[in-house]
Amino acid sequence: MSLRIDILTLFPDMFAPFLATSIPGRAAEKGKVDYHLTNFRDFATDAHLSVDDKPFGGGPGMVMMCQTVFDTVEAVEKLDPRPARRILLTPQGRRFDQTMAEDFAKDERLLLIAGRYEGFDQRIVDGLKPVELSIGDYVLSGGELAAMVVIDAIVRLLPGVLGALDGAADETFSDGLIEHPQYTRPREFRGMSVPDVLLSGNHAAIAKWRLEQRRARTKDRRPDLWQAQDKKIADGESA
Ligand code: 6GU
Repeated sequence: MSLRIDILTLFPDMFAPFLATSIPGRAAEKGKVDYHLTNFRDFATDAHLSVDDKPFGGGPGMVMMCQTVFDTVEAVEKLDPRPARRILLTPQGRRFDQTMAEDFAKDERLLLIAGRYEGFDQRIVDGLKPVELSIGDYVLSGGELAAMVVIDAIVRLLPGVLGALDGAADETFSDGLIEHPQYTRPREFRGMSVPDVLLSGNHAAIAKWRLEQRRARTKDRRPDLWQAQDKKIADGESA
């Protein structure tokens, strides 16, 4: 059974090349995922095809309206009997991470709601009870790029999407450490050489060097991740 991903957006054109290219495209070709794009505008009911309106209480910008979002979600959910996990992309959401990607990769259906403007009428959140996700502490003009980030992180984890040898298991974040440096040919480039250990053929030494590099980099670049590692070790887990 493949994963069905419904994407609700005012800008379906933003998604088409992304969904057809690279890993997300290959995952669909292999039948591991199906993408379905729906435009909120198709569910607008007034003469101007409005999907947003001015905020009560005043203030800048426009707010996504209840009617079009509810109608779109309900119509799209009826297209397939599998229940969907509803995900709303918003800078007010919980920060998306690798653990969530791993959880969502086990679902059979995801429904991503991307909005533009100043945000969503709160009753959309209260009534549809989506998981609210953000991809980081900066503001984007809309949820579309965030939805693509979430999709990419998930589909690459689906069984059979990545080749057997580029398995996602020992990558950055799956164990709380960032990746070690990588090198490829040539051995010497503009006076910079590849570390000898990588050319030694000594697999144990290479593994040790890589782990040391990962630990040093994590400590230096991501003290937040490093603290979590320290805590795990203190709690009696191995690093
Ligand atoms: Cl999910 N949406 C918007 N508009 N901005 C964001 C975001 C989402 N995540 C980080 N910034």
